[in-house]
Amino acid sequence: MCGIVGYTGKQQATPILLDGLERLEYRGYDSAGICVSAGGDLHPVKSKGRLQALKEKVNRQPAVAGQCGIGHTRWATHGAPSDENSHPHLSNSGKIALVHNGIIENESVLRRWLLERGYTFLSETDSEVAANLVDYYYRQEGDFLKAGQMALARIKGSYAFGILCADLPGKILCAKQDSPLIFGFGEGENLIASDVPAILKYTQTVTYLDDGEMALFDGDSVQFFDRDGKPVEKQKETIRWGLSDAERGGFAHFMLKEIFDQPAALRDTISPRIRDGRIVLDGVDFAPEYLRNLRKICLVACGSSYYVSTVAKYTFEKLCRVPTEAFLASEFRYGDPVVDQRDLVIVISQSGETADTLAALREAKRRGARTLAIVNVVGSAIAKAADQTIYTWAGPEIAVATTKAFTTQLGVIYLLALEMARTLQTLRAEDYRAYLRELERLPDVIGQVLTPENLVKLRAFARRWADREHAFYIGRNLDSCICMEASLKLKEIAYLHSEAYAAGELKHGPISLIEQGTLVVALATAEELFDKTMANIQGVIARGADVLCVTVDALADRAAGQVAQVFTVPEVLPLFQPSVTLIPMQLFAYYVAVERGCDVDKPRNLAKSVTVE
Ligand code: M6R
Repeated sequence: MCGIVGYTGKQQATPILLDGLERLEYRGYDSAGICVSAGGDLHPVKSKGRLQALKEKVNRQPAVAGQCGIGHTRWATHGAPSDENSHPHLSNSGKIALVHNGIIENESVLRRWLLERGYTFLSETDSEVAANLVDYYYRQEGDFLKAGQMALARIKGSYAFGILCADLPGKILCAKQDSPLIFGFGEGENLIASDVPAILKYTQTVTYLDDGEMALFDGDSVQFFDRDGKPVEKQKETIRWGLSDAERGGFAHFMLKEIFDQPAALRDTISPRIRDGRIVLDGVDFAPEYLRNLRKICLVACGSSYYVSTVAKYTFEKLCRVPTEAFLASEFRYGDPVVDQRDLVIVISQSGETADTLAALREAKRRGARTLAIVNVVGSAIAKAADQTIYTWAGPEIAVATTKAFTTQLGVIYLLALEMARTLQTLRAEDYRAYLRELERLPDVIGQVLTPENLVKLRAFARRWADREHAFYIGRNLDSCICMEASLKLKEIAYLHSEAYAAGELKHGPISLIEQGTLVVALATAEELFDKTMANIQGVIARGADVLCVTVDALADRAAGQVAQVFTVPEVLPLFQPSVTLIPMQLFAYYVAVERGCDVDKPRNLAKSVTVE
């Protein structure tokens, strides 16, 4: 989705803005632009397409020596991707330049109002309306801050704004409502961004603007204001990770790096929370009385985070014996869900900004449920809106296809379910201890899958099957959850159509699609379900399918000879097996995408955080 960066200080702004935008590229965009304030003038340069096109345009123009500016990567909502619709937008007078993330809901009313006052528009965007609204009040009041406050008072919808005024070189005004905005404190310089990687090179000291807040700043000072214009003090926070975490570090793609980050990310997420044989969850405590009266647990999320929820359903029901449902966030609100104060609603989101998940969370709160968020991005909207938050410490996830966020979300689910089971006494003390020991071992086991031999093997599988048009993933129980995630990976980065089915469901319809040479990836890691899944595998082989079977070492011999290929993973306690089985599936999708020449980290039509419903 759209990205914002702003800089003011002693350095030349242009290279800093371009570097910041490059670090936001992963969010997905279709045009980009910057505007630098210099010599009482604003100098915008904008271009449709990739950042490279913008850089070339900047290089073709006379250099602008300015130490303050704003930049933007745009994901088209109002109006097609074009130079005109790109940000920053200049107001009619040329005095105001503005970048915007979000959607202004009363845009047409404001546009009409401005047209009546003689304003004209060059673009189709709601953002240009905002630029001219600030301009209108600036002309009336002659005060940049006041103009911003008056304009914001009239704007309905979501926004993160970065705004320049030609008369105040060195000053940036910014504001936030329902769209992330981070303020970075530098030495003689200050920055804003919609996401941490854009400013990490300059500072790790930040504050997260809250909804309704605004800041006016230059390189030496900043003033924060609340919705009513009253000055507020903001707490400074230190980002836990550094620039190298947001770089590829020698890997061909961010996705591959992030696959390899998984053992460390999982360790960072679970280890600090296991102390003296007990789980300690960031102040999230469940009184025995509360849990005993709990009617059900609802898990609400989108995409891969939803697939984590499907694993979580098995985990909570198995360990805690509490009825659990997994909901797609985009559907939750519209189904009139049976949710009230007797229920616990857990939302899961890597970005913490997914619009559907945020809306579902608000709906659950409105209905009186206790809400808990599992989120990776500190200070994100979902983290702030939930009653309580447990962070996954995955570090920045840059590749659009999630990998380490999924793994760490599962880690938090295991911790939560075990702690609830201990409180509810649905788990014997020795089993609790055995699960904890296994959980602490899990990062190393995942590391054992990431061997050079396995990579060679998976790359060879990928090469063999990369030219297929369709694939099926089948498995039972927990394996079926990983099938859904594996199938999504193949679709989103390799553009290969694939379907995930519970293995037993195949014969109820989809088996009619199996023909000579159809690729079927079968996950069969559970001993007690192995024969049943094998029967389904035989069913597709009989109809001509090529089967890649993923199983545990102990079952490998039973699969060999029956299927085209077997890949084995180490065995862990069945409830944790999804975390291990997932790894070769991520790698398989990755290598198929590479073989097919796809843009692995920035797949077409996709954005990293989906902030529209
Ligand atoms: O940031 P979130 O976890 O809320 O995002 C949810 C989905 O958009 C996300 O998991 C998406 O499906 C990924 N591209 C999958 O790799």
